[in-house]
Amino acid sequence: MPQPKTLDLDLLEWAANDPQKTATAQALIAICQGAIEIARLISMGRLAGNLGAARGGNTQGDVQKELDVRSNDILIEALRGTPVAALASEELEKPLIFDDRLPVVVALDPLDGSSNIDTNVSIGTIFSILPVLQGQPIQAAFLQPGSAQCAAGYVIYGPHTAIAFTTGNGTQIYTLDREKGSFIKSHPPVSIPASANEYAINASNYRHWSDSIRSYIDDCIGGKDGRRGQDANMRWIGSLVADCHRILVRGGVFLYPRDQRKTYENGRLRLTYEANPIAFLIEQSGGKATDGFRRIMDIEPETIHQRTPLIFGSASEVDRICAFKLDPSPESDISPLFANRGLLRS
Ligand code: AHG
Ligand code: MN
Ligand code: MN
Repeated sequence: MPQPKTLDLDLLEWAANDPQKTATAQALIAICQGAIEIARLISMGRLAGNLGAARGGNTQGDVQKELDVRSNDILIEALRGTPVAALASEELEKPLIFDDRLPVVVALDPLDGSSNIDTNVSIGTIFSILPVLQGQPIQAAFLQPGSAQCAAGYVIYGPHTAIAFTTGNGTQIYTLDREKGSFIKSHPPVSIPASANEYAINASNYRHWSDSIRSYIDDCIGGKDGRRGQDANMRWIGSLVADCHRILVRGGVFLYPRDQRKTYENGRLRLTYEANPIAFLIEQSGGKATDGFRRIMDIEPETIHQRTPLIFGSASEVDRICAFKLDPSPESDISPLFANRGLLRS
């Protein structure tokens, strides 16, 4: 019987003797080692302490939970001593520089879905690996558009733990064999169905959305009796990784648009360590990822923690949403003067 394919061996084979690919592979292997430790903690639940307890706030005003902090610490230690020059994290105001002569950097959401920690619902780790730019300060590496990513993906901690990642040649899923302590290839390369009737959005924000987003969701709710002429189903897990994993497995769309709440003028999700890695996975699976106006991976980040509206999933459904004329400027969504602008359809 052929031996199951482990991620470590497959990555080293892929890297061959290319220095940049070897650095990328070693960073990915280190992230997996950290993720195995995080998965072990999560699987213990309360027996590992109160992982959902508030531990204060990060520099962007989010409440940090015990598991946010511990996951961040675990991944820092896992990546120290690898060919990673520096690490940016949701939980760190500034990048942590290990050695700026090394070839790659990693941007991390160490623990995604922290509102679900206490509830035994899937959560994850999201990562983006980027090349260091020769002759530029190390911080510049984090401000490259998503199209520069060498590799990206997430680990999902659910009923089983799995990693979805891409190095730019399709999206692969490997599942953790807890007894062996290694990730084993478990799925064929991901291919998202081009059309789908399942959408994910936090509908409690309906009154804060622009009219264009409301129109799209109204059509979904109207189903076969409305303009859409087809019923749609809704799922919202509240962990980006879990909503993305469902879309990789069976299609659908995810929306976290900008809205009128204070500090949500660019949505909620972060460009460099949430939207970009998800966009890379989605595009490599045949889907699309946009802020409603621009391809996510074309956006030039200005700061490491900047937010972006994020819409991704099945290609034809993302196109349908964009046809609702989402407005590119946050101000026009907020101003009542332009309240009806988004109703125009192409
Ligand atoms: P994080 O836990 O890293 O802060 O990310 C939470 C994100 C994402 O996982 C999820 O899609 C979204 O926030 C949920 O936001 P709402 O609570 O506004 O629905
Ligand atoms: Mn997150
Ligand atoms: Mn997080």
